[in-house]
Amino acid sequence: MCAFHRDANGHLLVDSTPLAEIADKLGTPLYVYSGNGIRDAFTSFASAVAPVAGNVHFALKANSALGVIALLARHGAGADIVSGGELDRALAAGIAPADIVFSGVGKSRTEIAQALTAGIGQINAESPAELDSISSIANELGVVAPVALRVNVDVEPGTHAKISTGQRSTKFGISTDQREAADLYHRLHDDPNIAPAGLAVHIGSQIQNLAPFEKAYCALLDLGQSLRSEGMPVPTLDLGGGVGVDYDGGTATDFTDYGALVQRIFKNTGFTLGFEPGRAIVANNGVLLTEVIFVKQGDNKRFIIVDAAMNDLLRPTLYEAHHNIEPLSNLGPAIGLADIVGPVCETGDYLGRERQMPNLQTGDRLAVMSAGAYGAVMASSYNTRPPAGEVMVLDGKVNVLRQQRSVKSLLDEESIPNF
Ligand SMILES: Cc1ncc(COP(=O)(O)O)c(C=O)c1O
Repeated sequence: MCAFHRDANGHLLVDSTPLAEIADKLGTPLYVYSGNGIRDAFTSFASAVAPVAGNVHFALKANSALGVIALLARHGAGADIVSGGELDRALAAGIAPADIVFSGVGKSRTEIAQALTAGIGQINAESPAELDSISSIANELGVVAPVALRVNVDVEPGTHAKISTGQRSTKFGISTDQREAADLYHRLHDDPNIAPAGLAVHIGSQIQNLAPFEKAYCALLDLGQSLRSEGMPVPTLDLGGGVGVDYDGGTATDFTDYGALVQRIFKNTGFTLGFEPGRAIVANNGVLLTEVIFVKQGDNKRFIIVDAAMNDLLRPTLYEAHHNIEPLSNLGPAIGLADIVGPVCETGDYLGRERQMPNLQTGDRLAVMSAGAYGAVMASSYNTRPPAGEVMVLDGKVNVLRQQRSVKSLLDEESIPNF
């Protein structure tokens, strides 16, 4: 099923609500999420891994709108966070501290103290220095820190270089080569300020082939079992996120094969598993609505200049990512190729290049598809453009999650010195 589809008259709908109606009422640029689609993706992921006792922590980095987190929390999700800010978001959205996992290579002392004070369920340490920092802060606070080690099992995930995290050449995790990770696990076990929580791995994002997962998970299991044979408690194996989505067809991800793989590797091994899916829960359940400002015929190219830009959706500029771009209503057949570009003063500011597009005019509206993950969360106010607002349609009701920021609010954050 696809949360975004056309009715018989060619109108693009989110579930059964016309996107044009939402754009008429709330304007553009605007992110629109399908709450039903997000809920269904989460429950289908959770049931695929349920036979192996999995705790599913939604990776907030993919979409951290409070409304999205709160919806997922209601359906049993915990949170995978990477900053003190995301911790505040998870708590504000109603996620219990025990259901929060803190990932990331560079947690500040303030963030570690914040996490320990809140009593979160697991901190994933990625270096000996970080372990020392967690230990000393736990000691100062008089608490015992639940720490898992994120390991680097040197697996090529077969995805875009900028979202690959599984190889030794990246900054992530502690090497499992030699005994580095194993020795560090012994060290944390012997530390009275730390309670060993297990091992974690995350090899990258938008992974569409199961082979790299299998390689990484088998390496993690080997390490977990060998540590157990040395008498170490290893309660949890955290398998990270990374399951890819279909950016071409926009269809919901089928988690059956992933669930079967995880069951085949981990069934009856006695580990509690953790999962951190982000993209696969939200990507195809969100679109970015935008309106055509001008159509400009270049020397040998048509430019469709729209009111959304790289400050709203950075993925095409940052990763050369592909998003389908579709008119909200049937505007007739394609008349040729066009670049769909924003108003930001950068040649790299485009949402799509060389796309077959109908005869678009000023005021026509388009949807940038599959924009629910790594979209609004990466927005900036570059060119002093207030980032797009966000709404969620849930059971037919349109809920505003975040208003578009105003230029006034951007200026209010600043001050001019007394020269
Ligand atoms: C540690 C960790 N967990 C989970 C995720 C979520 O990955 P994805 O959105 O591909 O599922 C990421 C994203 O890169 C991550 O760094």
